[in-house]
Amino acid sequence: MVAIQHRNFTIEMICVIGLMSGTSVDGIDAAVVEIVGKDVDLNVELLAGATYPYPPALREQILAVCAGAALSMVQLAELDDAIAFHFAQAAQKIQIGNPTADLIGSHGQTVYHRPPRLQSNERTSLSHPITPLGYSYQLGRGEVIAQLTGIKTVSNFRTADIAVGGQGAPLVSKVDTYLFSSPTQHRCVQNIGGIGNVTYLPARQGNWIEQVCGWDTGPGNALLDLAVQHFTNGSQTYDKDGNWARQGTPCEALVKQWLTQDFFQIPPPKSTGRELFGVDYLNQCLAESAAYNLTPADLLATLTELTATSIAHSYRSFLPQMPDEVFLAGGGSRNLYLKQRLQTLLNPVQVLTTDEVGVSAEFKEAIAFAVLAHWRTLGFPGNLPQVTGASGDVLLGNIYSPAAV
Ligand SMILES: Nc1ncnc2c1ncn2[C@@H]1O[C@H](COP(=O)(O)OP(=O)(O)OP(=O)(O)O)[C@@H](O)[C@H]1O
Ligand SMILES: [Mg+2]
Repeated sequence: MVAIQHRNFTIEMICVIGLMSGTSVDGIDAAVVEIVGKDVDLNVELLAGATYPYPPALREQILAVCAGAALSMVQLAELDDAIAFHFAQAAQKIQIGNPTADLIGSHGQTVYHRPPRLQSNERTSLSHPITPLGYSYQLGRGEVIAQLTGIKTVSNFRTADIAVGGQGAPLVSKVDTYLFSSPTQHRCVQNIGGIGNVTYLPARQGNWIEQVCGWDTGPGNALLDLAVQHFTNGSQTYDKDGNWARQGTPCEALVKQWLTQDFFQIPPPKSTGRELFGVDYLNQCLAESAAYNLTPADLLATLTELTATSIAHSYRSFLPQMPDEVFLAGGGSRNLYLKQRLQTLLNPVQVLTTDEVGVSAEFKEAIAFAVLAHWRTLGFPGNLPQVTGASGDVLLGNIYSPAAV
């Protein structure tokens, strides 16, 4: 923590490393940020950002576990430690040439996410009654990261919100609120990672904070990435700039059919993951597309259209009013064909990226977890109950100090 003397008052500035690997499992995003202020006065400056890919064998293992592969407890512990090791390495690498960080905020790697369930008379396979609480499991223990880096680390951000009935997702909405709200414009911040999520920010007038809302919109890049890997036998992992999909024609009948699915119809709060939009979902899409004789480019265009249409459909269904501007972030904001389709579907709403308001679209999520870690150490709640469905404000994350080993 640095205290800066500014005319007649002192500003406290903290240097935090945010670490994030999302549902795409493409690599660990690391961001070094300097944070000044807390909420309406929050100011974050990105000093450095980099993505550190997982070693291919580790990525394969994570994807297999996400797709339901069985693990012994020994293997689970080893995988957890391996992920923590790579997160710690990412922090150490990004630290080089930057001010020493006071704190790390590490989201970890989600390997399982189950939203809260409606209570029912059904029983689990172990014959216990079904709990209404959700379940979200991130690997890469904060205590290992703290021990390896020597830096205090906050991790395990989702469980406190889930414990009070929330989805534990999306968790970045409160950070979005203070980084992106405008005095005059109604805005949406749309992250497009493996899964998409939106935060709606009404113009800062009256009781605007109460009207902030958000939810997971459905598939972002997850299905697209899986389809590209399928069509290239694993030699490519994503559709760069959307160039392959752009050569195809979306099958509107299929998009219309897929959009009737429950997830797209149920009102927020809602969250999802690769458990729904994963390999089985893609296989179902491939099976259903057989009747339409689609080329790989047509199928990619159709999946891109599903992402774009599901976002636009959710805005029209669940927002109190359409925004003036949408700011895209996440790897999907680099998919120019997807961005173009969103612009067409949302016209006359302007579709921009968060870069255009000074926040890196590539590292926005890593930046958000740096801010959430800072808030945790300040004792400032990080969730927005109206977004996650939690029964109240809670402190997000567990704090781990470097152990004296
Ligand atoms: N130039 C590009 N063109 C098209 N798609 C891209 C491009 N760059 C990145 N992507 C897509 O973005 C994905 C990675 O995005 P990102 O890291 O935001 O997702 P994530 O890891 O799932 O994160 P999160 O869950 O936090 O949103 C890649 O898997 C790829 O599909
Ligand atoms: Mg990523």
